[in-house]
Amino acid sequence: MKFFIDTANLDQIKEAQDLGILDGVTTNPSLMAKEGISGDAKVMQHYKDICAIVDNNVSAEVISTDFDGMIKEGKKLAALDDKIVVKIPMIKDGVKALKYFSDAGIRTNCTLIFSAGQALLAAKAGANYVSPFLGRLDDIGADSFGLIEDIRLIFDNYGYETEILAASIRNSVHIVECAKIGADVMTGPLSSILGLLKHPLTDSGLAQFLADHAKAAGK
Ligand code: E4P
Repeated sequence: MKFFIDTANLDQIKEAQDLGILDGVTTNPSLMAKEGISGDAKVMQHYKDICAIVDNNVSAEVISTDFDGMIKEGKKLAALDDKIVVKIPMIKDGVKALKYFSDAGIRTNCTLIFSAGQALLAAKAGANYVSPFLGRLDDIGADSFGLIEDIRLIFDNYGYETEILAASIRNSVHIVECAKIGADVMTGPLSSILGLLKHPLTDSGLAQFLADHAKAAGK
């Protein structure tokens, strides 16, 4: 399973990269705004700064919602760095843009996926990644893991190479469940990744080992 971090915060991206397990970064306009990044020049520079930290795969989202605008913006983003993956919303012009970028050899991530039909359409249009939003589905009481299972089944049925990027991850349980049902990638906050480290028996076991070692050394 690939691990992406879902943030535009450079310190958190560095911390995850330093852990040695990071495969990429996803951002969105809300995450950029949260870091106080606005204005074209600053946004572009911030993407460059993120690309300088990670080895590959930085999803950068277009703001335009019409085909021409998405193509113009996507090309500009892709030209920033080979690591950029252009993030396109699941709307009608977005599907056309996915096909355009697929034909042009520019990688895409289709975002705001909430149904298996949307994922199928994005894969058919040549998206490299589809991003079903788990947490937001949970928020409305929908079956988020069932959606991942359905997309997995459909992609396997037809041999689509589009990767399932489980997004809107809220905690480490989400990550483990997605791994069990075959999501290719997960993107979540640093806390969800670090949460995988934790188990009380690890803490008490280590404390016991260190205490026993100290006792033996003191003899
Ligand atoms: C995906 O790429 C999105 O940036 C993200 O996962 C959305 O998550 P949220 O529902 O926590 O905002």
